[in-house]
Formats: sequence, C-alpha cells, structure tokens
Amino acid sequence: MKLTTHHSPLTTDLSVNIAGIKMKNPVMCGSGTFAFGEEYAEFFDLKEMGAIVTKTITLKPRKGNPPPRIKETYSGMLNCIGLQNPGTEAFIRDKMPVLRKPGIPIIVSIGGETEQEYTDITRELKGVRGVSGIELNISCPNLHPHLSPLPSRERKEKERLRMFAQDEKAAAGVVRRVRRITRLPLIVKLSPNVTDIKIIARAVERAGADAVSLINTPLGMAINLEKRTPCLSNTTGGLSGPAIKPIALRMVREVYNTVRIPIIGMGGIMDARDALEFMVCGAKAVAVGTANFVNPRAIPEIIDGIRKYMVENRIKKIGLLVGSLKAK
Ligand SMILES: Cc1cc2nc3c(=O)[nH]c(=O)nc-3n(C[C@H](O)[C@H](O)[C@H](O)COP(=O)(O)O)c2cc1C
Repeated sequence: MKLTTHHSPLTTDLSVNIAGIKMKNPVMCGSGTFAFGEEYAEFFDLKEMGAIVTKTITLKPRKGNPPPRIKETYSGMLNCIGLQNPGTEAFIRDKMPVLRKPGIPIIVSIGGETEQEYTDITRELKGVRGVSGIELNISCPNLHPHLSPLPSRERKEKERLRMFAQDEKAAAGVVRRVRRITRLPLIVKLSPNVTDIKIIARAVERAGADAVSLINTPLGMAINLEKRTPCLSNTTGGLSGPAIKPIALRMVREVYNTVRIPIIGMGGIMDARDALEFMVCGAKAVAVGTANFVNPRAIPEIIDGIRKYMVENRIKKIGLLVGSLKAK
C-alpha cells in the first residue's frame, strides 16, 4: 500500500455579485476601451471575463471629435474621442447579437446631454435580451465642447452643457429619473473632476444607484510647443493609465468609506497587483481600460494573476480582500 499525504487543493472562489449581476470573476473592461468586444475575441476567449462593459452609447449616432484625439503622455494617455458610437438603435440591432455570444454579463454604458436622453435610451433598452445592467456615464469629459465658462444667459443651455457628475443635484436628478423606469442594475460612473467625490457618491446612492464605478478620466492637456497649440483637437482630453492610479485609489477608498453600495474600481490597472490594490481599498470589482491598448491579453492575464495571488495567500473567497486595507 502506498502512503500518500493528501492535501485537497485550495479552492479559490473569484465570483462576485454586483447589484445582482453575477460575475465569475471581478474583472471587466472599462467602457470605451474595448469597443463592443469584437476586436478582442481574437486575442482571448471573452467568456473568461467577469463582464463586458460597452463603449458609451448615445441616443443618436455620434461621429465624435475630429483628430487628433489621442496623445501619449508620461505613464498614460490623453483622449478626446467624444463618444463616437453608432447610436442606440444600431447598437441594439448590430452590436448586441455579437455581445451576447460569449454568454457573460453585458453592461451597457449610456450617455447623454440631457436627462431625457438617458431615459429615452433606457426605454429603448427595455426588454433587449442579454442586457444585464446599465452604466450611466454621467462623467464623460469630452461630450461638451466647452465645459466652462458656462454661458450664463440661457438656463436651458446651462443644463445642456453641464457634466452631471460635477453637480450633486444634477447627478441625483438623472439617476432618479432613470431609476423610475428600469429595474435593471444601475451603475453610476463618477468623475474625478470634482472637489469632493464623496458628495456625489452619496447623492447618487440616495437617488437609487445600485453601484458606482470610478474613476472616469481626469481632464488634462498636452501642448505642441513648436506650434504653440494644444495637441488634441478638443484642447482638453481625459487622462488615463498608470498616471492616474494613485488618484483613483484614493477616491475608491474615500467612496468606500462613504457609501454602502458596491464599487467598481478603475484607473491605471495594468496588472493583477494593481487590480488587487483597488480591491483592498474597497472595490468589489475592477475595470481595465488603457491596459487593453498596451496588451490585448491584459484582462485574462490579470484574472490569472488574481487567482495565483489568492492561492499563494490561501484566500478562499475574493470578497475577503475587499476593503481589507489596514488604515486609520
Ligand atoms: C480611449 C478611451 C475612451 C474612453 N471612452 C469611455 C466611454 O465611452 N465611456 C466611459 O464611461 N469611459 C470611457 N473611458 C474611460 C475609461 O473607461 C476609464 O474610466 C478610464 O480610462 C480610467 O481607466 P484606465 O486608466 O484603466 O484606462 C475611455 C477611456 C479611454 C482611454
């Protein structure tokens, strides 16, 4: 008889539930960095992802801003894509059938210039098979050509030009209206371009958000010194990549200490360690953005790395890590 000492392999459970969206692992893509998934399917099996978040769609098609709209910067990039997308009708007709194929949760990111636009898109999405949740992008820095100064004369114009995520009442207002017309899980994407993100997080939680995702891109600029012009067509753009990770971690922690709803953390996640840092700070799930452009296999590699870390550290459930930061 052969004597063997048998150690049962440690089971690792990576699954998370974000407001009813059941994900087999906590890793999704950041909106706008993965298009509608098609291009990445040749690099890995999209089934491996926790969820897919679409490029933000608007009610009508948008061409976005003219080029140049991407500029590499130290440890990151600036973009002013301007929400280029095919519009809601074409999205449902042409993109949803492709998105449904991997059988993973699909979170549709929606954006608009008015509250009405958000509710119109939400209504159109009603009953569309395979939509697992809605992410309200109230924080796109490139939607409006001139964020400030606001023309003070016409109130209507003012409404239109505002970034919802920069104003507590505006943020809560749009969430409340969308909340009234859908039962789908509502994730609200917050902007770092604010004085105090806690105030906005609390306001959207009260208005009925099921989760928050953060951060969208902080606004930045790059200059062509020879020409003395901005490098981007829109003058300013959103900064992403490792350059913003410390800001994002700080904001995730602040929001974690403020709200009860789950947080999806993002901003400069390049590898598994980055993702784990966000989870320790309080993110229940994470999104990978700019890293997809650098390494199209970033997402599956991050998932593997998280699993390896859990095995090495004998962590059975990923949830045990969430918010486990030892800090005063
Ligand atoms: C080229 C590009 C396009 C983006 N488009 C969107 C978008 O359509 N909607 C949105 O909510 N966020 C958009 N984002 C923001 C990302 O989803 C993410 O919040 C941000 O880039 C921070 O994560 P990262 O540093 O991992 O890229 C975009 C980012 C980039 C770089």
